[in-house]
Amino acid sequence: MKPFAIYNPTKILFGSGEVEKAGEEAARIEKKALIVTGRNSTKKSGVLDRVIASLEKSGVKSAVYNGITPNPKSSEVEEAAALAVKEKCRMVIGLGGGSAMDAAKGVAVVAGSGGKLWDYIALPGKKAARIGDVLPIMLIPTLAATGSEGNPAAVFTNTELNQKAAIYNPVKIQPKVSIVDPDTTLTVPKQQTAEGIIDIIMHVLEEYLSGEEDCELQDRITEGIVLTCVENGKRLAENLSDRQARANVSLASTVALQGLPNSGRAGAWVVHPLEHAITAYYDNVAHGSGIAALLPPYLRYLGKGAKAGRVAQLCERVFGTAEGSSEEDLANACAEGFEDLCSEIGLKTCLKDMGVKEDMLVKIVDKEIEQSGMPAGMDKAALLALYREAWKGE
Ligand code: NZQ
Ligand code: ZN
Repeated sequence: MKPFAIYNPTKILFGSGEVEKAGEEAARIEKKALIVTGRNSTKKSGVLDRVIASLEKSGVKSAVYNGITPNPKSSEVEEAAALAVKEKCRMVIGLGGGSAMDAAKGVAVVAGSGGKLWDYIALPGKKAARIGDVLPIMLIPTLAATGSEGNPAAVFTNTELNQKAAIYNPVKIQPKVSIVDPDTTLTVPKQQTAEGIIDIIMHVLEEYLSGEEDCELQDRITEGIVLTCVENGKRLAENLSDRQARANVSLASTVALQGLPNSGRAGAWVVHPLEHAITAYYDNVAHGSGIAALLPPYLRYLGKGAKAGRVAQLCERVFGTAEGSSEEDLANACAEGFEDLCSEIGLKTCLKDMGVKEDMLVKIVDKEIEQSGMPAGMDKAALLALYREAWKGE
């Protein structure tokens, strides 16, 4: 196990009805907030009006930017930041899915430090500008998926440059307070619920599969989160109004990226950057759907190499094993297990069904190398083969 430090200063309020405390919490931070949210869902479900009313009750004024789209665009963040400055907002509240929450983090940076969002993005060969002042951040997830509410990451899409990239900055964009009220996720449709489930699973599997192997407690925490997602994901596929299942998945989402599950491993993230290279060209491909297509081929790829034992362990502990199976057999069984899960909860697992054109795969490989570098141990041919498998879904 590698040495590690955990410092997660986000105050998390968790539970049914907790969203009503938005005003009380915001009032401890500032007197005027910009609420950053998506185009439809928070208005339609009524949660936006509930948050505004709660702020008003506690004497916190607010302005609303409701133009954030899935895979949030740098232009939207800059527009919202300009509104925050114009309206003299002193804090930002991200309300919605990961896209609205990440956008709020971007707004905090651009409204506080000026410039363009992409100035603050580091890429291979491109240094990020130093972030100066930021507005304090409060987050309220309405979709269990990204865990943005408890981590210092934010992912953005730049449609001019065809890039999808992240800011990761524990000092500057860790939210001060987040309110995780699982009841706000009751309106999430089947497709987005399932995409969230796969995303949460991938957040704990990235380093489990690639990093140090002697982290027994972290392994058990990871497997617990995966099992929680598998079991409650199936319950939600049957009944989207299952409040207990919504609560279990919401907590799994927040805990997955809060620090402890991935500690001590120092592993590489592979599937996420592969997905980001797809979204760089196909903004209509939801993050979780891209992951659903890439995870099975990645597990099969690992099953042929030095990490086969990790996939075999995962298979054994999540899906069970057939006696006498080799590690490679188990890795293939694990890939099948996740494919079955996806089809049970209503997710496609091939990129071709998501509108990705086969002749774009070479460009996507180049994009992945440009944005994130070649994954360790792979070459261009192996990477293209993996994308091809994800494209065909077999
Ligand atoms: O846009 P609105 O109208 O709000 O509708 C959204 C959107 O259409 C809808 N939705 C959200 N809450 C709902 C709801 N519909 C009904 N009821 C509700 N309660 O769901 C759709 C998808 O929303 P989005 O925010 O895009 O989904 P998600 O939470 O999966 O976020 C995806 C984004 O987060 C990034 C992804 O790359 C992607 O850009 N990620 C952020 C991470 C982080 N900050 O740590 C880590 C992740 O790995 C991920 O990369
Ligand atoms: Zn993710």
